[in-house]
Amino acid sequence: MELLELMKCRRSIRKYQDSQVSREDLEKIIEAGTYAPSAGGGQRSIIVGVRNAELSEKIGRLNVAKFDRSRLSGNYVSAEQPSIIDDPTMKSGFYGAPAVCAVFAVKNFLYSIPDAFCCAENMVLMATSLGISSCIVARGEETFDNEIGAEILRDWGIPENYIARCFILLGYCEGEYPKGKARKENRTKIIE
Ligand SMILES: Cc1cc2nc3c(=O)[nH]c(=O)nc-3n(C[C@H](O)[C@H](O)[C@H](O)COP(=O)(O)O)c2cc1C
Repeated sequence: MELLELMKCRRSIRKYQDSQVSREDLEKIIEAGTYAPSAGGGQRSIIVGVRNAELSEKIGRLNVAKFDRSRLSGNYVSAEQPSIIDDPTMKSGFYGAPAVCAVFAVKNFLYSIPDAFCCAENMVLMATSLGISSCIVARGEETFDNEIGAEILRDWGIPENYIARCFILLGYCEGEYPKGKARKENRTKIIE
């Protein structure tokens, strides 16, 4: 599929089947993340792929454990694929995705957040091209900021000066894949 067409089709998926993604596909998605542009060409981000539904669920629960709903501005994300903003009864921020990648970046580096999200964008596009559904999820910082999270980071060998910036959920869409969304108008200009 042509790249622009692929970008138009990609949607954030929040309903997943149990089927796991293959290790080969996960490797390709992670490799795509490593080819993202990075500030100063530093290639500092670290990507950890979890191909384990139980561990994904465990981290997904930590992801919403400290979610402060009182600070939401009341916007609605999706009727067809409700997010944790839309449905306060959800216990996991990972929506049952059987696989997840966590992107870590240097804590005190000015471009640490954009670096991580550049990786994430490459990864969701790669996933889409492989027929794998995905969703970028935030709150990396607070997810591991607890005893269980700290133990996971120790297990994974994440250096002390790194912090999680985002997650990329991966799996296969349960039900119909939502159609591409229309774009808001008058947001672009070309100056000759
Ligand atoms: C920086 C960023 C953070 C996001 N965080 C979350 C999140 O925590 N949970 C979630 O369900 N979706 C999250 N999303 C996905 C957006 O909600 C989604 O991209 C948006 O609603 C547009 O829908 P679409 O991706 O299907 O076009 C995030 C997207 C971005 C770019």
